[in-house]
Amino acid sequence: MKPREIKPGIYSVGAIDWDRRLFDALIPLPDGTSYNSYLIKGSEKTALIDTVDPTMQDVLINHLNQLRIESIDYVIANHAEHDHSGAIPHVLGKYPSAKVVATPRAKGMLIDLLMIPEERFITVNDKETISLGGRTLEFIHAPWVHWPETMLTYLREDKILFPCDFFGSHLATTDLYVSDEGQVYEAAKRYYAEIMMPFRTTIQKNLEKVSDYTIDIIAPSHGPMYDKPEFILKAYHSWVFDEPKNIVVLPYISMHGSTLKMVKYLVEALAEKGVTVKQFDLAVTDIGKLAMALVDAATVVIGTPTVLIGPHPNVAYATILANALKPNLKFVSIIGSYGWGGKVVEQLAAMIPNLKVEILEPVLSKGFPKEADFKALNKLATTIAEKHKEHNFT
Ligand SMILES: Cc1cc2nc3c(=O)[nH]c(=O)nc-3n(C[C@H](O)[C@H](O)[C@H](O)COP(=O)(O)O)c2cc1C
Ligand SMILES: [Fe+2]
Ligand SMILES: [Fe+2]
Repeated sequence: MKPREIKPGIYSVGAIDWDRRLFDALIPLPDGTSYNSYLIKGSEKTALIDTVDPTMQDVLINHLNQLRIESIDYVIANHAEHDHSGAIPHVLGKYPSAKVVATPRAKGMLIDLLMIPEERFITVNDKETISLGGRTLEFIHAPWVHWPETMLTYLREDKILFPCDFFGSHLATTDLYVSDEGQVYEAAKRYYAEIMMPFRTTIQKNLEKVSDYTIDIIAPSHGPMYDKPEFILKAYHSWVFDEPKNIVVLPYISMHGSTLKMVKYLVEALAEKGVTVKQFDLAVTDIGKLAMALVDAATVVIGTPTVLIGPHPNVAYATILANALKPNLKFVSIIGSYGWGGKVVEQLAAMIPNLKVEILEPVLSKGFPKEADFKALNKLATTIAEKHKEHNFT
C-alpha cells in the first residue's frame, strides 16, 4: 500500500500485517492486524502520530520517503507498547531533530523499553497543546487503555481523534475507513475483550472524557478509521456500561465423554428455560471467541474432568485468563466428572479472586453421569434461570 491522504497534509503511513496470527504471544488474530501511523503537516511543523511494530519499520520509512518527508519535528508516542513505539528509535535515527512527545509516565517507559535517550523527549500534561502552524495537537491523558502511560491525541482544527489502541480493531484491510460494520464490530469487540475489558471502569471515565470533544474521525492505531465515530463510541458504551445479559458461557474439556454428556444436558436444560448458552470446547476453541462471549455473559459454568487432583490444564488456563480479563460476571458454577476424588472445585475457586461472583452449587459426577447427576444439573439450570430473572438480565 502507498501512503494515503486523509485530508490535505494528513496521511496514513502505517503498515498492514495481513499474516500475523498471534499477538502478545497469546491473542489469536484470525484477520491479521495493522499498525497505523499518521503524518500531520502544519504550516510550520510536522508530526508523526505513533509508529509501527519494529518488524514493519521499513514500510513506515518507505512511506515517509514516498511523501518526501525531509524533517519531522514531533513523534507523538500515545502508547509505549512496541507495536506502536518499536520503530521510534529508527525514526529518530533518520530524523535527528525530531523530539518524542509523550506523557511523563510514557517517557520513563520508553527509556526503559527502547533505550531512547532522555534528551529526545518533550513531556506533555493533560490537555496541553502543541501548534504545528494552523493545526493544533491536544494531548488527552487517558491512563490504563491499556497501560498506565497512555494518552490520546486530538487534532483540533480537523476534529480527528488519534486514540492509539482505544477503539482499535485487529483487522487487516485495504479499506481506509470502516466499510463492513459487522466485520469491524466483531474485530473491535475481540480487541476490547482481550485488551481493554480488564480496565472497564477506567475506560468508563475515559469514554466520558472523550465525549467532551467534537469528533469527525477516529483514527485508531489498529484497524480501519471511523468516519462515523458514533458506531464505535456506541459499541464501547454498551460494552463498558451495560448490565450483563441472560447468557451462560460454558467452557469445558472432556477426555472420554463424561463431562461432555453433562455439558450437553445442561445446555439443553438452560435453553429450555430461555437462557442463551455459548459452549466452548477448550481443546479446540479460539480463546478470543471465549473472551468475546465473556463481555456479555452473566454466568460462567466451567466443565472439567478431574485430572491429577485438579481441573484439566486447559480449563485452568481458561479460568486464569477469565480471572485476568475481569468480565462483569455475576455467577459461576462448576460441573464435571471424576474417577476417585480430587480438589477441582477448591482449585478453580482459588483461581478467580478478581471475579466478584456468587458460586452456585457445583455438580460433580463419579464416572459417567447418572440419574442423580442429571437431576442436579436440572436444579443448576433452574437456579441460573431464576437468578438471571431476579436481576432482570435480558
Ligand atoms: C491423565 C488423567 C488423570 C486423572 N486424574 C484423576 C484424579 O486425580 N482424580 C480423579 O478423581 N480422577 C482422575 N482421572 C479420571 C477422570 O477424572 C475420569 O475418568 C472422568 O470421568 C473423565 O471425564 P471425561 O470423560 O469428561 O474426560 C484422571 C484421568 C486421566 C486421563
Ligand atoms: Fe497496546
Ligand atoms: Fe496496539
